[in-house]
Amino acid sequence: MNKRFLIFTIVFLFVIAACSPKQELSPASGSLDKAEPALLPEDRFLTIAHRGASAYRPEHTLPAYILADEMGADYIELDLRMTKDGRLAVIHDNELQRITGTTGKVSDMLMDELKTVSAGTVFNDRNPDLAKLSYEQLTIPELRDVLMQFGTSVNYYIELKSSLKDSGIEESVIAELERYGITENQGQHDVPPVILQSFSEESLMRIHEIRPEIPLIQLYSFKENADLSPSELELLSSYASGIGIPADSAHAGFIEKIKRWGLDVHVFTVNEEKSIRKLIDMGVDGIFTDRPDVVREIIGRDDF
Ligand code: G3P
Ligand code: CA
Repeated sequence: MNKRFLIFTIVFLFVIAACSPKQELSPASGSLDKAEPALLPEDRFLTIAHRGASAYRPEHTLPAYILADEMGADYIELDLRMTKDGRLAVIHDNELQRITGTTGKVSDMLMDELKTVSAGTVFNDRNPDLAKLSYEQLTIPELRDVLMQFGTSVNYYIELKSSLKDSGIEESVIAELERYGITENQGQHDVPPVILQSFSEESLMRIHEIRPEIPLIQLYSFKENADLSPSELELLSSYASGIGIPADSAHAGFIEKIKRWGLDVHVFTVNEEKSIRKLIDMGVDGIFTDRPDVVREIIGRDDF
C-alpha cells in the first residue's frame, strides 16, 4: 500500500472515531478492560446483624456476634477503624465516649491501650434488663480476634470506616482475611464469605483493583428520597455489587432502577417488624438490623 494513502486512511479513521456520537449510558454499557464486580446470589434476601445482635448485647463484641450467629444471621457486620499503630479495631465511633464512657480517640491510641477499656460497662448501665456482670470484662476486639473466634463458620460484612487517605486499610483488611482463610472459603448459607462496604468510593475502587472477586457495597447517606444519576450508576457498576442506603430514603422506584443495573440494595438500620415487612415488600435484597431474630422470623413466614 502506498505510504501516503496509509497515513491518510489512519488519520481518516481516527477522525471518524473521534466524531462518532458517544454511546448513551445504559445498564448494558460498561468498561470492557476491567474485571466485572462480583455477583451476589439472585433472589437471596440477606439478614445482616448490624454490629452483631446489638439490640441485646454490647455492640461489636464477641457475645453480640455469637448471638447473631445463633439467631441465623447471614452476615455479622463489623465496622473497622485503624489505631495509631495501624491495627484494625472493630468499633463504630472514633470517639470512645459512647461505648466506653471514657475520653479518647481510636486513631490516637495503640491497639493494646484500646484493649484495656471496657466495652460492656456502659451497656450494662444503660440496659439493666440485659446487663451481665461478665460484660464488664469485654474489650473492643481487633479484627483478628473476631476472625480467630469464628474462622469460616460465619460470613463477614465489613465496613472500612477509616477516612485516612493512603492509610493502607484496604490492604490490611485483605491481608487479615487471607491470613484466616476467609476469602478462600465457600461461605456459609450459600452466600459469599465476605462483603466489604464503605462510604468511600476511592476505598472500594482500590479493593476492586486488588481483589475484584470480593463483593463490594457502596454506602450512601441520602437524607431524603434516594436517587443516583445514570453516570453515577455507570461508575458504580464498574466496581460494586450493590448499594447500602438509609432505610428512610428507600422507595420502590429507586429500588427498581438499581435492580435494572444488576445491583443489589441493602438498607440500614431496621429493627421494627412493620418497617422490615414494608422494605421486604419494596424489594430490598438485605436489611441491616440490630435484631436479626426479628428479621429471620419475618422471612421465615410466608404471609408478608
Ligand atoms: O454499614 C451500614 C450501616 O452500618 C451504616 O451505618 O453508621 O451503623 O455504620 P453505621
Ligand atoms: Ca456499619
